[in-house]
Amino acid sequence: MTADDERSPGFESVDDHPEVTMLLRAMDETAQWEATKQLRAWEREQLSLRTGQRLLDVGCGLGDAALALSADLGHDGEVVGIDGSERMLAEARLRGADATCRLRFTVGDAGALEEPDASFDAVRSERMLQWVPDPARAVAEMARVVRRGGRVCLTDSDWSTLDLDVGDSDLARRVRETFGVDRERQTTVGGRLNSLAESAGLAPLAETSATQVWSSWDPDESPRLHGWAPLAVSARAMVDAGQLAPGGIDGFVETVESAARQGRFTMRLTMHSVVARLP
Ligand SMILES: C[S@@+](CC[C@H](N)C(=O)[O-])C[C@H]1O[C@@H](n2cnc3c(N)ncnc32)[C@H](O)[C@@H]1O
Repeated sequence: MTADDERSPGFESVDDHPEVTMLLRAMDETAQWEATKQLRAWEREQLSLRTGQRLLDVGCGLGDAALALSADLGHDGEVVGIDGSERMLAEARLRGADATCRLRFTVGDAGALEEPDASFDAVRSERMLQWVPDPARAVAEMARVVRRGGRVCLTDSDWSTLDLDVGDSDLARRVRETFGVDRERQTTVGGRLNSLAESAGLAPLAETSATQVWSSWDPDESPRLHGWAPLAVSARAMVDAGQLAPGGIDGFVETVESAARQGRFTMRLTMHSVVARLP
């Protein structure tokens, strides 16, 4: 239900999306969510990066989170960002032009990292595991490239926590049944980060979560909720999941938008973070 289109690829294949600039913009919007800011601040404390260290960001997107952490690495440190999208990486390189440490943003696949074993002091990955076909394999790759004693921080959404409140509990249930059930992709992976880390041989050290709350929305001012695809895209996903009749798309959009105009719109989504250490 994020900036994605039912008939187009989503974040698993950003560069093939007809509205690629919307996907890029959505990343800047999600970076502004209070929950995102909270989890990134927590991650920074937990990773406790030091001068000269090497950090890998898997599925780095626009690179902004890794670039913020680069301030802790001094001149001798290095940030490596891997992403499946050249469009994301081109923007990350521009944003990193003034970074003080070494930077490398490279196209790659989280399931088969082209990085040597034990070559990083820390690895991070944020909201990427929900887009890969095999999250366990991706986390195993992160565990392979981190050094002994190094830390891995995983952050992801758990879409089973999605709660849309427009005064219609049946509609809220149908939304949750659509997005909170693992179908083509693992939308509940955020709730399983600890066990994924353990299965990869990592020892979880700490975990936290943050709930993003949207308590108002003016659809006339902002046709998309920040960080989200247009509502019709969500409605089409509900049709595909058998939670909305094929002719019900316009009615769904109308119901939600008119509730929002009347100040009866609240939505919540919880994201989780886990930091683990390679023993
Ligand atoms: C929702 S975005 C999150 C981006 C960034 N981590 C953030 O939090 O702003 C998911 C990112 O994962 C990337 N991605 C998806 N599948 C991937 C894969 N198999 N290997 C590497 N990156 C991938 C996408 O290109 C996209 O940039």
